[in-house]
Amino acid sequence: MLQHIYPHKPILQLLIELGINRATDATDRIVIILKSLHSTDLPIAINTNMARLTTEKEKQDGPFLTQPIFQHVKFEHEDVIDIRYEHREVNGFRDQLTYNFVEILKSSYDLMTGYQDAKDLEDRIRIAKSPNRMTIEKWLTRFVVLESVAGIPGSVAGFLRHLRSIRSFKRDMGFIDTLYDEAFNERMHLLIFLKMSQPTKPTKALLWVGQGIFANMFFMTYIVSPKTCHRFVGYLEEEAVGTYTRCLEDMDAGLCPELVNYPVPNIAKDYYHLEGEVTMYDLIQLIRADEAKHREVNHTFANLELEGDDRNPFALQIGGNCHEPTKDLRWHHAAGWERDELIL
Ligand SMILES: [Fe+2]
Ligand SMILES: [Fe+2]
Repeated sequence: MLQHIYPHKPILQLLIELGINRATDATDRIVIILKSLHSTDLPIAINTNMARLTTEKEKQDGPFLTQPIFQHVKFEHEDVIDIRYEHREVNGFRDQLTYNFVEILKSSYDLMTGYQDAKDLEDRIRIAKSPNRMTIEKWLTRFVVLESVAGIPGSVAGFLRHLRSIRSFKRDMGFIDTLYDEAFNERMHLLIFLKMSQPTKPTKALLWVGQGIFANMFFMTYIVSPKTCHRFVGYLEEEAVGTYTRCLEDMDAGLCPELVNYPVPNIAKDYYHLEGEVTMYDLIQLIRADEAKHREVNHTFANLELEGDDRNPFALQIGGNCHEPTKDLRWHHAAGWERDELIL
């Protein structure tokens, strides 16, 4: 363990001297350091009571299996592993307002799920060695809580655009499909995690209240300002990418072997068309890639004229070899596409 060999040196200085800083990027450096922590040396973690792991019976699939209405688009593996936490620069009042709101939500979400955000690498190591480190139960609780509200925006926005289309006797230009697809995808994430972890009754009650408030607030705000709602979802998805990235780094470093070795539920294999040996690491990477796609889509939608005749460039494509948004991760724009980059 590096700190045992050089106990007096700050960890970053140590990395630079060892040449690790030059040779690797930030994520690799975190993983190298965390790998030096042996799980047997770690103190007993403070666990969560909000959810429990599923029983063998609950893991079984029922007799009525359905085919997904929205088939998952196949992502290229290189694109999936390339996804990183990226932040769209806050520009103007709308961005500031929505970003601040996401920050408030994130703080309550972190508190509720016993998750500590690290300020820097040293802090990250301190958390990983403390009783507040993440356990499999804490990770799964975090995912169930996140995914239990993540399916709301797409379904509410899709429903409102559907009503708008039939009310105005006009076509919708492809937005409804992408929004319902997003809602379906988020609900699939939830169903996958429910095969691994079940929230307790008080947690369910808390989530029902949260879902009720969020769905109604989103519904009313979407009527007034759809752009604000999409910018808000874009920032929210940035945080989702961040949390799955942190989980992957922990798994990479062997900090939560129970999660790495957990069998991937069949529902996930079917939905993502996975064959052969699949690990939880592969699954979390795919889910993170979905969140990155939602980040791109929602930041782009917030840049479009949603009340006008702009087409949804993710659904209605020009064709040929045009450099334009796609359904997969080709030409991924983490901060969304600007309106003037698109032929609308
Ligand atoms: Fe999700
Ligand atoms: Fe998402």
